[in-house]
Amino acid sequence: MTTSSTMPQPAPRKRPAEERLEYKLALAFGFMVFIPVLVIWAMVHGLNWGIAICVIVGSAFIGYFAIARPMVRSVLKVTAKVAALSDGELPGKIEVTEQNEIGELARAFNRITHELEQKIDELESSRQLVKKLLSRIGTAIVSYEGIDNLLTLIVENAAVALEAQMGSLMLVDGEKQELYIKTGWSLNGPATPPDQTPRLKLGEGIAGLVAKEGRAMRATSSPAALGFGSGHGKDGAVLSVPLKLREHAIGVITVLRTDASKPFTEDDESLVTSIGSQIAVAMENYRLNLDVERTYIETIMALALAVEAKDPYSAGHSKRVGFYASKIGEVMGLDQDTLRVLTNAGILHDIGKIGIKDEILLKATPLTDDEQKIMQQHPIIGEAIVKPVRSLQNVVALVRHHHERYDGAGYPAGLKGDAIPLGARILSVADTYDAMVTDRPYRKRMTVEDAKAELQKFAGVQYDPAVVEAFLKVLADKEQRLTASHAQPPANA
Ligand SMILES: [Fe+2]
Repeated sequence: MTTSSTMPQPAPRKRPAEERLEYKLALAFGFMVFIPVLVIWAMVHGLNWGIAICVIVGSAFIGYFAIARPMVRSVLKVTAKVAALSDGELPGKIEVTEQNEIGELARAFNRITHELEQKIDELESSRQLVKKLLSRIGTAIVSYEGIDNLLTLIVENAAVALEAQMGSLMLVDGEKQELYIKTGWSLNGPATPPDQTPRLKLGEGIAGLVAKEGRAMRATSSPAALGFGSGHGKDGAVLSVPLKLREHAIGVITVLRTDASKPFTEDDESLVTSIGSQIAVAMENYRLNLDVERTYIETIMALALAVEAKDPYSAGHSKRVGFYASKIGEVMGLDQDTLRVLTNAGILHDIGKIGIKDEILLKATPLTDDEQKIMQQHPIIGEAIVKPVRSLQNVVALVRHHHERYDGAGYPAGLKGDAIPLGARILSVADTYDAMVTDRPYRKRMTVEDAKAELQKFAGVQYDPAVVEAFLKVLADKEQRLTASHAQPPANA
């Protein structure tokens, strides 16, 4: 962003008499009026009339063309440019060589239009900056995956948009009266991880002072003095703005330029202040939403257990499905986040059964076709229950598709093969296995061996073969551990 500046003002000087407009007007008057009158007087007293006429005409020409006309033309030039400016155009410079008052007027006009052009450039630059920032933050919001990612993106984009080389967001730890880094960004690579960054006491360094006093600060100094370490040799410029919520500073957003010759402007400060207040509100909303969401999750988890409690045959089924699913995920090398999703999806996979009538849900005999159709609605009902919870977004598709079959003959969408989300393919195996080895009102439970054989038989038909293979490994590991524990002699033997 261009730093605002003005053209140097020339020192007022005393104008020589021959440069003054008044002098030139007198001179023009002399040539055009005084000399002709003098010549007429001389003619009356005997001067040759031919010579007299030549002198009168010559004098008038000199007075008009050499003195009066250039002055009038300069005035017209200035007037035309002023008129253009008042019509909203940028007329450019007035080319004048005169040293008189008209020349001074033209130079003053040039200075004003130059400053105006600079201001327009600055405004345009600010407009571009805001647009760029809004677009980047908009993208960040669309790709929302949690407040932490969003904050990192905001800090990074604010720093980039302000042509800063570093940026950080620190939050106030009210208990310890300290600031700690929530997120940081540096042009030269990842910022120092938060756990390795020293905390700042309130009032310590610029950020600490900003948090304590609750007002923005701009400064230029050495990086160490600005609280950005000593990685850069030369002085830098810093802008630090408090994140205020109901008049209390809950954090500080700071940006640093490594070149002190480019200090932050008032415009930069307004922009970061505006971003800071948005962040403060977003963080508060996030905290409130988190509370609401936590309550909602606890409620639906309780509902999931309530559904199970209706049917004594399915007691503990959901938790076991979650457990098996995460074990399968572990064998398949899935990351910790996905394993957590699988556990939650296991607990919630049949939550939709809460919308199925008890006479169908608890029927001891096989369901009729119509009853089957109603029962098959439970993944869709479950999806609708889980969908409003932002932190369970990854669970939604798994709840919806846990009754799909690998060959495409499942429900509700009839998805086939890899089109079924992997988590849903895993849930399907975990769910069916647990159902097979549990007593049901209309049949006795299968043995583990029979259930394993059943899974193998339908691998590639009903189940994903890779998932079945992983689950067989889970069961084999479990058997191995059981055998090992049985083989161990008692501790006091
Ligand atoms: Fe189900």
